[in-house]
Amino acid sequence: MLLLFLPFLFIGFTWKNPVYILVVFLWFIVIGIALLGWIGAPLKELYDFMENLRLGVPTRNRLSRRADIYGQLAQGLERIERSHTSHLSTLHGRMEEIQAILASMSEGVVATDITGRISLINPAAAELFHLKPGEGVGEFPYKVFPQSELGEIFHQTYVKGYPVEKEIIWHNPERVLNLHLALIRDEVTEELRGVVAVIGDITKIRQLESIRKDFVANVSHELKTPLTSIKGFIETLLDGALEDKETETKFLTIINQETDRLNNLIADLLDISKLESGQTDLRKRLFHIDHLINEIILTVEGRLKDKQLNLTKDIQAAVVDGDENLFREVIINLLDNAIKYTPEGGEISIGTSQNPERFEFFIQDTGIGIPEESLPRLFERFYRVDKGRSREMGGTGLGLSIVKHIIERHGGKVTVESQLAKGSRFAFTIPFAPKEVE
Ligand SMILES: Nc1ncnc2c1ncn2[C@@H]1O[C@H](COP(=O)(O)OP(=O)(O)O)[C@@H](O)[C@H]1O
Ligand SMILES: [Mg+2]
Repeated sequence: MLLLFLPFLFIGFTWKNPVYILVVFLWFIVIGIALLGWIGAPLKELYDFMENLRLGVPTRNRLSRRADIYGQLAQGLERIERSHTSHLSTLHGRMEEIQAILASMSEGVVATDITGRISLINPAAAELFHLKPGEGVGEFPYKVFPQSELGEIFHQTYVKGYPVEKEIIWHNPERVLNLHLALIRDEVTEELRGVVAVIGDITKIRQLESIRKDFVANVSHELKTPLTSIKGFIETLLDGALEDKETETKFLTIINQETDRLNNLIADLLDISKLESGQTDLRKRLFHIDHLINEIILTVEGRLKDKQLNLTKDIQAAVVDGDENLFREVIINLLDNAIKYTPEGGEISIGTSQNPERFEFFIQDTGIGIPEESLPRLFERFYRVDKGRSREMGGTGLGLSIVKHIIERHGGKVTVESQLAKGSRFAFTIPFAPKEVE
């Protein structure tokens, strides 16, 4: 205070002297600047401290060690910063947890915000829709999924204001998607915040359902055909044909053939169902496949002769580790087809070979061949290139699907190469077979 009035203490001070007035004026300016510095410096330091907090830069503030009002303010700010940081790290942890949950979900998740733009796409959804990480976020659904009704469904859910469940077909590649859309609401105000969709890929389930339906329809049809025929002939016989010995024998022969067909069909169906349900235990052991092949050829010698088919063998590998009875079924089916679908005078060759990794069996014929478009479906149950011809020959259309099942049960693979009117080559490989029967 004394300092403030210092100029007035000069001897001879008078307001009339302009020099004195100037001195007083300058003196107050000096005092003012000093005061500003004294109050302003810590304020500036506080300001920097707050700025650092805002930017998230770690601070060590020496102000907080002061006992005055600035120190108290700085300590307060530091307390706020500490609780802020701990809140932030809790939030961060929660976010990471939610991200991990979303990332590990097998269902796709897509969410939109209050503006209708996409706010989240989890990895499963990104994969499902072939989007790169981050792609599509911030855009409207109808822009991200232009070729589907997905955008419209998001919009409708938001407008209607209640959850929606829907099945849609996604094209390219074709998939059946099951959508569950729900509304995102503010926990407190219940206000609408957006829409979240959980998307399941149910293509496999629908395919299996359709295969099962086809299977039931096919089985019924296959059972009905011989039964209708049997019933027809029995009725004709009862209507008087029994009196004619020749007709009677002819009809009974047909009835006998049809009964055989029914028997074959039921036997094949039982095989298939056992193989598919995994009920058949693999009785694996080492056996000589050349013996098995010879044994099977003996049973078809008559048919080979009748059709004047020439059969050659080239057995390079003889020992297989597998279920001999199942392999018998495989070879019978493949050889039976080769004989059935090769016209008179044709050639059939059977061979085996092996390398350190695989054993291979093949059977080649100079038969009617298979059109290229049929090749991918050949191993399906009941698939036949020419239904009429196959049935005429007593086929069930299940043979190749049984072959495929058996080989796959042994960890192997079946392949086919064929040219129309030239012939076919069916082959299977199974993992390495040992050289000698122990
Ligand atoms: N060696 C072959 N040559 C020509 N076509 C074949 C041959 N093997 C199989 N196929 C075709 O594949 C179909 C399915 O064979 P398969 O499942 O054994 O049924 P099936 O012999 O009872 O008709 C046959 O109907 C036939 O059209
Ligand atoms: Mg067959």
